[in-house]
Amino acid sequence: MQMFKIEANGLSQLREALSQAALPFDDLSEPGRQFFRFEMDGKWIAYGGLEGSGQDMLLRSLVVSDSHNGKGLGKAVLSELEQYAAFQGGLWLHLLTQSATGFFTANGYEIFDRGEAPVAISQTVQFKHLCPASAIYLRKSLGAAVVTEQFVGSR
Ligand SMILES: CC(C)(COP(=O)(O)OP(=O)(O)OC[C@H]1O[C@@H](n2cnc3c(N)ncnc32)[C@H](O)[C@@H]1OP(=O)(O)O)[C@@H](O)C(=O)NCCC(=O)NCCS
Repeated sequence: MQMFKIEANGLSQLREALSQAALPFDDLSEPGRQFFRFEMDGKWIAYGGLEGSGQDMLLRSLVVSDSHNGKGLGKAVLSELEQYAAFQGGLWLHLLTQSATGFFTANGYEIFDRGEAPVAISQTVQFKHLCPASAIYLRKSLGAAVVTEQFVGSR
């Protein structure tokens, strides 16, 4: 699996994938966001994103292509994003989800009340506007993530 950082002019396919998965895509080109495309044999298998900087980062826009669901790729992609966030100085990854709570708890994330999110996270557009009030807030300490410099190409 290869991980590529998506350049600002390459967001249209990501937008389409997020739209099909019913995930937010309105704010993709705003600053402070990084998006990644994951490929196998030259074909996209997943996307994922990180928002913010510093110790608290938002994990967002994780989507595995329909034809690759349920093969462990979501877990592998999540692990790559966690390592990348830790490499950038992240200590905690936070997220909101409506449909994949079980996936994230199986991968070490814990459920908290939305009011317990740090300000850097509660002020994100996802928290304030894009995700419905029913979305579940989870977070994970990146203390155990292996921090290694990763080679990430760009697309
Ligand atoms: C959630 C998602 C990323 C998981 O990807 P995946 O490649 O299917 O996941 P994996 O194959 O790595 O699954 C790992 C485990 O999580 C479980 N799982 C997968 N999706 C799940 C979900 N939506 N809810 C609960 N558990 C889930 C799997 O059953 C598997 O469990 P097992 O190891 O006991 O068999 C994928 O289903 C997806 O793209 N969903 C639509 C977008 C979305 O909801 N993204 C998350 C919000 S940012």
